Amino acid sequence: MKVTLTRRYSFSASHRLHSDQMSEAENQTLYGKCNNPYGHGHNYVVEVTLAGAVDPSTGMIANLADLDAYVQKHVLADFDHRYINEEIPAFKAVVPTTENLCIEIYNRLKGFTGAKLDRVRIEETSRNSFEYAGGA
Ligand code: NI
Repeated sequence: MKVTLTRRYSFSASHRLHSDQMSEAENQTLYGKCNNPYGHGHNYVVEVTLAGAVDPSTGMIANLADLDAYVQKHVLADFDHRYINEEIPAFKAVVPTTENLCIEIYNRLKGFTGAKLDRVRIEETSRNSFEYAGGA
């Protein structure tokens, strides 16, 4: 019997949408104000979903305290109050869209051993959310 558990986290960070594979003009056209050179910030909400069987002895699929510590160490400590483009090595050459953030954060959390990572969903604003569940 599979049960899912979703835990919500948040961090604040800044980014600039800019692709080295396009000209300045193409970047400006594609990304608009999100291409402004000095970046802009978001209050990101990250939902981490685990899936697994309920442990009959604890009644839980994972210990939330273990998940909190793992997310703190592998995601929040690196991302909170950072300029993603410059301070997170994975985004030196990858555009820090929320699509790519989902993939990066999923990859950082897939080693959690308390239960299987099912998916990562990120709200960039109240109107935009993105989700990645692994795979191609
Ligand atoms: Ni943005």
